[in-house]
Amino acid sequence: MDVDPAWLPAAAFRAVGARRTLVRGAGPLVDTVRAEVARACERFGGRVVPKGTPAGLVLELTGGAGGAGDEEAFACVREGGTTTVTAHGGRGLLYGLFHVVRLGEDAFRGEWEREEHRPTVALRMLDHWDNVAVHPVMGQVERGYAGGSLFWADGRARGDLERVRAYGRLLAACGINAVAVNNVNVHATEAHLLTDRIGEVAGIADALRPYGVRTHLSVSFAAPVVLGGLPTADPLDERVRAWWAAATARVYEAIPDFGGYVVKADSEGQPGPFAYGRTHADGANLLAAALAPHGGTVHWRAFVYDHRQDWRDRTTDRARAAYDHFVPLDGEFAPNAVLQVKHGPMDFQVREPVSPLIGAMPRTRLAVEVQATQEYTGQQRHVCWLGPMWSEVLRFRPDGEVPAGRLADGLVAVSNAGDDPFWTGHPLAQANLYTFGRLAWDPAADPLAVLDEWIALTHPGAPERLAAGLHAVLDGSWSTYEKYTAPLGVGFMVQPGHHYGPGVDGYEYSPWGTYHFADRDGVGVDRSAATGTGYAAQYAGPWAKVYESPDTCPDELLLFFHHVPYGHVLHSGKTMIQHIYDTHFEGVEEAEEARRVWAGLADLVEPARHARVAERFEEQLRSAREWRDQVNSYFLRKSGVPDERGRTIY
Ligand code: GCU
Repeated sequence: MDVDPAWLPAAAFRAVGARRTLVRGAGPLVDTVRAEVARACERFGGRVVPKGTPAGLVLELTGGAGGAGDEEAFACVREGGTTTVTAHGGRGLLYGLFHVVRLGEDAFRGEWEREEHRPTVALRMLDHWDNVAVHPVMGQVERGYAGGSLFWADGRARGDLERVRAYGRLLAACGINAVAVNNVNVHATEAHLLTDRIGEVAGIADALRPYGVRTHLSVSFAAPVVLGGLPTADPLDERVRAWWAAATARVYEAIPDFGGYVVKADSEGQPGPFAYGRTHADGANLLAAALAPHGGTVHWRAFVYDHRQDWRDRTTDRARAAYDHFVPLDGEFAPNAVLQVKHGPMDFQVREPVSPLIGAMPRTRLAVEVQATQEYTGQQRHVCWLGPMWSEVLRFRPDGEVPAGRLADGLVAVSNAGDDPFWTGHPLAQANLYTFGRLAWDPAADPLAVLDEWIALTHPGAPERLAAGLHAVLDGSWSTYEKYTAPLGVGFMVQPGHHYGPGVDGYEYSPWGTYHFADRDGVGVDRSAATGTGYAAQYAGPWAKVYESPDTCPDELLLFFHHVPYGHVLHSGKTMIQHIYDTHFEGVEEAEEARRVWAGLADLVEPARHARVAERFEEQLRSAREWRDQVNSYFLRKSGVPDERGRTIY
């Protein structure tokens, strides 16, 4: 089968391709814009016209000095029957073109005043957890549910990078401007990408560059030892500093616009500065110093915790770890070091509070990391559109004052794409990738409006019934998934290792710090300051107070913050145990309803795509019922409290 066009089917370019368009300016990205327009015109009868000819669309690179961030900004206006897009930089022009594509015929109707568009967040990045060699446990793409890697095959960079170019194009169309091409867990083979195999990375960078996407690389902190033969990787050792400077200079010879490094250090067994008695700031600044002369950035991940915890130890709380490790270092990181923080304090669960680290380090550049790959949200076998979750995170005000969009300097998603013909395994998971890009561009955007865009682009000219059906399937899918999985923010309850499907006690006696503490009386983790781990007190302003007490803690996070008895009455008026039963029955019913709606769209969706989703729904339903019955049975057996409505629980 051919590769699915995702949100850029030819027909999405109908309005642009039917017009006479003048493209003005020079440079590689202007060439991309011109080629896009020419391709659309070939299909829809329009023309790329020379200067002096009347045109319905003008795309003009004005050049000149813009302010900071202007490289990506564009303006558009419609007057005298012409739509004009102007930009200072090539990326801006490209984003302007895709803006016009999104508007479709509306771009050419009436007259409108000049509008300016610019991204709120400068760095909008995807991290690929791709391995070059197939890892014996994790496979080729760690936590990947969309086939093999887009970049690597047969132990090296793909020879044919056509698909990578197409990927870059999709990313540009939703505003993503950076990609890290290998796994944050850097194994032996992949470590060499930094040095003797940098040419392969350069090939990928060449394929992504025409769409304004910069390439980044995950590197091992131990590289000076494993690649350079030095006896140490101590960040304060002069030989180590010289090694990184030289290695980085060679990277820039191969890739002049290289974005920088991504580093997972002292995390889940990866090497880091702790081995030398140094801090994370020492570690990050070492790489920042090597990158600074070339304009690169180091993304230093804050996902640092004790993954060898004794489950008997009630004083250690994994949720506290990132804050405890990093807040004392605020102000110590170099200007070109960005601390990359997972959106929640644990690990991409279906429901977590926003990490208290966000907003707590005013003198440190921060990027927020979300997970488009659905490790804990159904692994692209379940439909789970994450737009509403990400929007909640991005709208969170740590101290009640930070304006929307200034939450972070960068937004990063772990990519959900692979070499699957539909890119994302579950065709509807394409909506997650698209939504991430658009929310990164404008974190204040309404996710439902973004979904409308995705629907309109993916299915040009779709009848209202299709749009309504897709909304019915996607809008509430995150909430549905939450209902039939771990309740009220308690998290995990998954099968160990692969993390798919229910395992209520799967992590209960594990070293990973992920416990729910259910007994015959109640369930949940006491993270209050008064009687628990004190995690709630890591929040600033009003939040510490809100989370401290079960009376004020939002229901959906109750068991994340508190251990409460089964009879505890929620704000909804239900007891906690009845809420667990009800939501688990409802979640399965909602999934059944979504499957029914999808079946009714068969005449409106391309058959292969329809069949792929239909097949995934069968598995989602099977799995959702398993979740419902295991979670409900577990809590009935623990609590002895029957379901008020007498439904079947095993
Ligand atoms: C999760 C995931 C790992 C990944 C890690 C990370 O724990 O299961 O596969 O390596 O996150 O973000 O580094």
